[in-house]
Amino acid sequence: MVETIDTQSLQKSAQEHLWMHNRDWVQMAEEGGPTIIVEAEGVRAVDSDGRVWLDVNGGYCSVNAGYGRTEIAEAMRDQMRRLTYFPQGTTTEPLIRLAAKIAEITPGSLNRMWPVTGGSEANETAIKIAKAYQKRVGQPGRHKIISRKGSYHGATGGVMFLGSVTPDYEPAPAGMVYAPQPNPYRCERGGTTPSECAERCARAIEELILFHGADTIAAVIAEPVSSSGAAVVPGDEYWPMLRDICSRYGVILIADEVICGFGRTGKMFASEHWGVVPDIMTIAKGITSSYLPLAAAVVRDEIADVFAGEDNIFKQALTFGGHPVTAAVALKNIEIIERESLVQNSADVGDYFLQQLESLKEEHPIIGDVRGIGLLLGIELVSDHETKDPFPPQLNIGERLTQKFQERGLILRCGGSTINIGPPLCLTTSDVDEITRGLDGSLGELEDELADEFTDK
Ligand SMILES: Cc1ncc(COP(=O)(O)O)c(C=O)c1O
Repeated sequence: MVETIDTQSLQKSAQEHLWMHNRDWVQMAEEGGPTIIVEAEGVRAVDSDGRVWLDVNGGYCSVNAGYGRTEIAEAMRDQMRRLTYFPQGTTTEPLIRLAAKIAEITPGSLNRMWPVTGGSEANETAIKIAKAYQKRVGQPGRHKIISRKGSYHGATGGVMFLGSVTPDYEPAPAGMVYAPQPNPYRCERGGTTPSECAERCARAIEELILFHGADTIAAVIAEPVSSSGAAVVPGDEYWPMLRDICSRYGVILIADEVICGFGRTGKMFASEHWGVVPDIMTIAKGITSSYLPLAAAVVRDEIADVFAGEDNIFKQALTFGGHPVTAAVALKNIEIIERESLVQNSADVGDYFLQQLESLKEEHPIIGDVRGIGLLLGIELVSDHETKDPFPPQLNIGERLTQKFQERGLILRCGGSTINIGPPLCLTTSDVDEITRGLDGSLGELEDELADEFTDK
């Protein structure tokens, strides 16, 4: 039983003191927000007014094992009672066991883990390792990083310009190089099939390496399936080609599995769909199902071993990287994911979900594309199927749809023209039916409104 809390006074306090992620407090106050969540179980969360929500995005696409796992809370408590931190220069049992477990479940020779506290830090670390590696192998001029347009790799200084320019914080760090996103629905390189798009976009990376000079490129960073593009799955040729190109030109391949990892796409890691072993894999979110902050850069032996020896140390220390309580939580979380076959559930329920989205696409003309793999899915809305143009911003499609989802008890956001779906992996087909009904009702209502608005003109 949850203690009753005074929603209004807490909201007022939040409006006055809390700087929420990507939200403005004036609008939040006008909308009577923020929503305050007080408990959660499985895929559902309850707010301070007792309203039950279905969390279609599982936190930030991150609560892989689902909410309310008392086993994880117990693992946390047990570790806290035993040991909460460690003296400088030492380490702890849960962290060692976690590093070994990660080496076991990641593909190939990804055997060495540098622990941090979040996905941004993991990518910062990966990029630093890539640059420091290049210096150690006699390639000091390799400082540029290739990322794909529209990707997101984090919010902190060194990574926020990967994938796109963020004008508020210009100038960007030197050496940001942008490649096309292998999105078969709107292929920047004009590919008309997933395979053609994959080949052209992989080839574009090779062209960029040659244009800039291989001796200037340290790394390529890419999500196996791009969540920021609303679950863009590249054609099957893309990742093997990218692996081959990076190996050929001595470029470090970083797979950002911050969202894709831990079963999200129906494999433990999405790189496995294409049998590719990156040089560095970054992991976060699902490693603890967001019960506590933990992330890591996992590095292949061949790269990590270059840092062995006293004079070669990778110089970085983060106070909270590899906290023993977070490691104990990660171990319990991975145990649950394996024991309950949540990776397979993600594949199976994801297939079913995608079929429902395909049916919605038949019914709703404003859906241009549905896509994804496992429980990383996306919907793209268009104003015209031929041109694939988005709706004009003044129509506020995103906000209007998000509001309609809320009215139907769904925590789900439409960011203008795309809807990202990444629920907990314990989702059932009946949950999918509930979400599909909510999507169907919301999209239908919006289409009716748009028809009226255009008739009135
Ligand atoms: C692909 C990807 N990489 C990195 C990040 C950054 O992770 P964090 O928010 O934990 O810093 C995110 C966050 O959503 C992400 O989706």
